[in-house]
Formats: sequence, structure tokens, C-alpha cells
Amino acid sequence: MEESPVKILTIESSCDETAAAIVNERREVLAAVVASQIGIHERFGGVVPEIASRAHQERILPVLSEVFLQSGLTPRDLDAVAVVNTPGLAGSLLVGLSAAKALALAAELPLIAINHLQAHIYACRVAYKEELFPCLGLIVSGGHSSLYRCQGPIDFTPLGTTIDDAAGEAFDKVAAMLSLPYPGGPAISRLAEQGNPKAFAFPRPMLDDPDRLQFSFSGLKTAVRYAITGPGRRECQDVDLSTQQRADLAASFQEAVVDTLVGKTLHALKKTSLSTVCIGGGVAANKRFRDKMTAAALRHNFRLFIAPMNLCTDNAIMGAIALERYKAGLFESLSLDILPGLVRD
Ligand code: KG4
Ligand code: ZN
Repeated sequence: MEESPVKILTIESSCDETAAAIVNERREVLAAVVASQIGIHERFGGVVPEIASRAHQERILPVLSEVFLQSGLTPRDLDAVAVVNTPGLAGSLLVGLSAAKALALAAELPLIAINHLQAHIYACRVAYKEELFPCLGLIVSGGHSSLYRCQGPIDFTPLGTTIDDAAGEAFDKVAAMLSLPYPGGPAISRLAEQGNPKAFAFPRPMLDDPDRLQFSFSGLKTAVRYAITGPGRRECQDVDLSTQQRADLAASFQEAVVDTLVGKTLHALKKTSLSTVCIGGGVAANKRFRDKMTAAALRHNFRLFIAPMNLCTDNAIMGAIALERYKAGLFESLSLDILPGLVRD
């Protein structure tokens, strides 16, 4: 009789999505569920950590029930349970980790730890079914803007990260200045379609030095604020902007972020001599970013994989990276802990 393929349950609760999926060793998705908390955090203009962890507590069991229902499997049909334990919000990570440990104990399953950032890059491996490594990894999300040399799926060396705001965070904050809803990325992107990306000459932060692979979006955010308010001390919301001015601000800001991300990627390719780029994270869903990065790949002749739209923002399918640890025999004990901060290994 043919042996049934390895099946792993993956759990993601690092920020504001409660997600679970079941994948098999061929990286096929047998079930996947994401319960978003956008509706809860919207009115605060960003994720409120305490509210996020409470919402994860309410959602984790229904989300798990749903993946078992969708797949027609029970915990005893699984070969392992995997969970994101780093990086993320402490209270949020704890909810997923506790659920994973309970399942591992009850169904006598091995426990696997997932690094959320490595998983964002692995979304490309799941989607494109091609060998990606070694590659340059770019993660652009609400919490991270980072470049990595990725020797393998679980072997990353950091090359540069943000010294202040992440790219997605800048999108969210500029959106708030323009009275757009949270999350700001999709709203800015829609508004920018009607705007002129050259209307405002915003800075492309730290792009002049090819050896510096760090990002910084805080100054750009302040430049947008001053473009709206002028030199006075007014609040952005008190300034009367025309529809065209708002669209021009959105388009010019977006262009500055996109140019910076593309420019830094080119610097990193030169520095590392890598020829493949893999990109994941919520900001990678941005259309202008995808278009300009694709054009850069053609011009500079590198292989480019950007996670498909549905796998850019947080999800558990990218947790298929657990298969790599399963194959390598990298299992955790039930004393596995969360590591909320970035691990620099
Ligand atoms: O990866 P993600 O779901 O969560 C984190 O791990 O942070 O990313 C969320 C971020 C938010 O800041 C959101 O504004 C941004 O991704 N985002 C976008 C777009 N869609 C989501 N930014 C720019 N353009 C988009 N289309
Ligand atoms: Zn993420």
C-alpha cells in the first residue's frame, strides 16, 4: 500500500490575523483559513496588541475547527503541528503557541517552530514550485523592511533592516494623514491611481550609498506631513486638500517608497552577487511595487519571485516552511517559547 504523504498543520498568530492551514509534503494546500482582525483595529488606525491577543483567543479554536472540517482530517491524521513563535506581538504569538502545544500533546504530534519572516519568503516556494535558493530575500510588511541573504529556506543572514519605520507602517501612517482607512497600503494604492507620482519630490531615503542596505522611512513620512501642513503647526486633518492634491500626495509618496525598495534591492544584488530575488510581506501586494520590480528584473537580468497577492499578507499557507524543518528532523520540546523580537542569527 502507498504511504500517505506527510501532513502538517500550521498555525499563524503573530500579529492580527488568526490563521491555520494543512499542507502536505508536496506543498499542496489541503485546507486554509484566515480570520482577519482588520475590522477590530480599523478605528484605532493600527493594531492594538492587547486587543489583538484577545481576538486571537476568541478565534483560534473556530479557525482550527474550520481547517479540520475543510480537509476532512482529524488531528490524528497529521504528522506534525507547526506554529510561528518569532517574531511578532508577544500576546498574539502566545495564543498560537499554546494551541499548538495543546494539540501536540493531545494528539502526540511533533512540534515545529516557524520563523514568520522566513515563512514570508517561503510563500514564493509554495506558489511557484521552483527552486529559489540561494536568493536575496526582501520582506516588506507592516512590521518589517528587511533584506536577507537566504542560503536555504531556514538559513538567512540579515543584510539590512529598517532603522525606524517599516514600509507598511509608513503606508499606514501616511494614510492616516490623508484620512484614509486602516490598513493604509491598499487605500493609498487606490488613491494613487488618480495621482501624479512626480507632483511632489519626496526623498528616496538612504539610496545614495550602495553599501548601506538599511531602510529608513520615518523622514519620508515627515516630508509628506510637511507637504500637507506647510511649515505651521497644523494637524493634517485640519488642512483642506483638493481630491487631486490628495491623489498626487498618495502617488508621490508611493513612488518614493517603491523607488527606495527597488533601489536597495539592486544595491544588495550587486553586493551579494546573487541572481534571484524573492519577495514577501503585505507591501509586496502593492501594484506599483510589483510593476516596477518586474521592470527592474527585466532590465537588470535577475530571476524575480514575488509572493502572489493572497500570500503577501499574513497567512498560514506560507507556514509550509515547516516541511523543511520536518525533513531536517528539527523538532521542539513542549517548553518551546516565543521570541517576540527579531532574532539576529
Ligand atoms: O505582512 P502583513 O500582513 O503583516 C505584517 O507582518 O506586518 O503586512 C501588513 C502591511 C500593512 O502595513 C499594510 O498597509 C501593507 O502591508 N499593505 C500594503 C498593501 N496591502 C497591504 N502596502 C502597500 N500597498 C498595498 N497594496
Ligand atoms: Zn507578516
